[in-house]
Amino acid sequence: MGLQLGDTAPDFFATTTEGDFHFYPWAGDAWVILFSHPRDFTPVCTTELGYVARLKPEFDRRGVKALGLSVDPVDSHRKWAEDIRETQGHAVNFPIIADADREIARLYGMIHPRHDEVYTVRTVFVIDPRKKVRLTVTYPQTAGRNFDEILRVVDSLQLTDAHSVSTPVNWRTGDDVIIVPAVSDADAQKRFPQGWRAVKPYLRFTPDPRAPADFDLSG
Ligand code: BEZ
Repeated sequence: MGLQLGDTAPDFFATTTEGDFHFYPWAGDAWVILFSHPRDFTPVCTTELGYVARLKPEFDRRGVKALGLSVDPVDSHRKWAEDIRETQGHAVNFPIIADADREIARLYGMIHPRHDEVYTVRTVFVIDPRKKVRLTVTYPQTAGRNFDEILRVVDSLQLTDAHSVSTPVNWRTGDDVIIVPAVSDADAQKRFPQGWRAVKPYLRFTPDPRAPADFDLSG
């Protein structure tokens, strides 16, 4: 059984493009997006890492740190990073783990042997500041991930933690949110002074409770 939602993300030591690394102290109080990619100098991976680098301002705004991993050596990562900057227009601005002995890949279930016995698949783990796994995603090696979607889920998770709301299908930042059923109407009156629209007693929509300054719809 691989890592599941709510599990504690395992701690580890690693070699990375930014030096030797102890995961928990590095993560500190931040959220972490830990993602594996199969190999260096491959086309889909090149586009993904460039896009993650481009998203840095969005990560910073949400208190998120990105952390990549593949089983290629650190010299290869560094050389490949030059190609990523050249072809994607964004220099890699987060550490990439060189997991040559596959210790971390095995710890996190990033190798799916019936898909590929040797190289990691495209996994994503969103880990919160308490080191709990809050989202897991696994893509095949041939399909590039949608990191905007990962960020959208981070927004949803952070909203849930702060305001006891959940987010409906295809929700986007700034859309109305759902008051979780565990919050009674009496409690909701205190928590959501702007009111709500009850489609059913269990389906209550309320405006995004964050101050507009806390989220930016321009991106
Ligand atoms: C790629 O990044 O393009 C890729 C890597 C491994 C297998 C298939 C595609």
